Amino acid sequence: KREDFVSSWPGEIVRMDSVASTQEEAKKLAENGAPEGTAIMAEEQTGGRGRMGRKWHSPRGKGIWMSLVLRPNLPLSLTPQLTLLAGVAVCTAIREVTGVPAGIKWPNDLLAGGRKICGILLESSLREGGLHYCIAGIGIAVNLTREDYPAELQEVGTSLLIEGGGIPVDRTRLAEAVLAELEYLYLQYIEQGFRPIRELWESMSVTLGRQVCVNTPQGRTEAMAVGLDDNGGLRLRNSAGEITSVLSGEIEMI
Ligand code: BTN
Repeated sequence: KREDFVSSWPGEIVRMDSVASTQEEAKKLAENGAPEGTAIMAEEQTGGRGRMGRKWHSPRGKGIWMSLVLRPNLPLSLTPQLTLLAGVAVCTAIREVTGVPAGIKWPNDLLAGGRKICGILLESSLREGGLHYCIAGIGIAVNLTREDYPAELQEVGTSLLIEGGGIPVDRTRLAEAVLAELEYLYLQYIEQGFRPIRELWESMSVTLGRQVCVNTPQGRTEAMAVGLDDNGGLRLRNSAGEITSVLSGEIEMI
């Protein structure tokens, strides 16, 4: 039961000062056999990476820039579920520790006040056709002020400090809460599968019930986001009432 759950993050937590990207540091450790649960946190990233080849702005001392080594026994096709799991964990921790009403935009952007507060990057490494390990990268904009954002990000990015009315957030406490949630949900996922995560995700989503625009190889389509499918894909209903799923990509809420 959740109330009886006592967290003690089983993995080593490696703290670093300045790195290009914690993703690369975690990969090096994973390649050298680091066990599941090994976590890397950096004060600053000079080459932080986002999804779709984008940069991730990671100024010193202002955020949680963290990557975790996971070694799940899963087919590659189900790894999107882990991304959703991480989104639920961070969203829960943020709400608990700060009270900021964060919500999840599919697949795993966390928004507050309509702007982005956290991004998640799950990268998988294959060996002999199967999954070797995953690196789950989590970037949370904790104590950034408006001035900490470059001009081009001021309209899209926000922080817990900004959304919480200017009160600085204790990064250590928040990071501990994130790890505790991740541990709880990951163990639950291994025991019970995706369904509990799917329900939590759906309850925290700001995407469901909205009209969205999706870019697929077939082109751009507009549809209503209606739920998650069993793999973690987004179920869409078009104007003709047909249901389809998208497993990865970007959506725009309209
Ligand atoms: C996104 O929304 O595009 C994903 C952003 C992921 C950022 C985190 S910060 C820690 C880890 N290291 C990186 O270089 N990226 C991820």
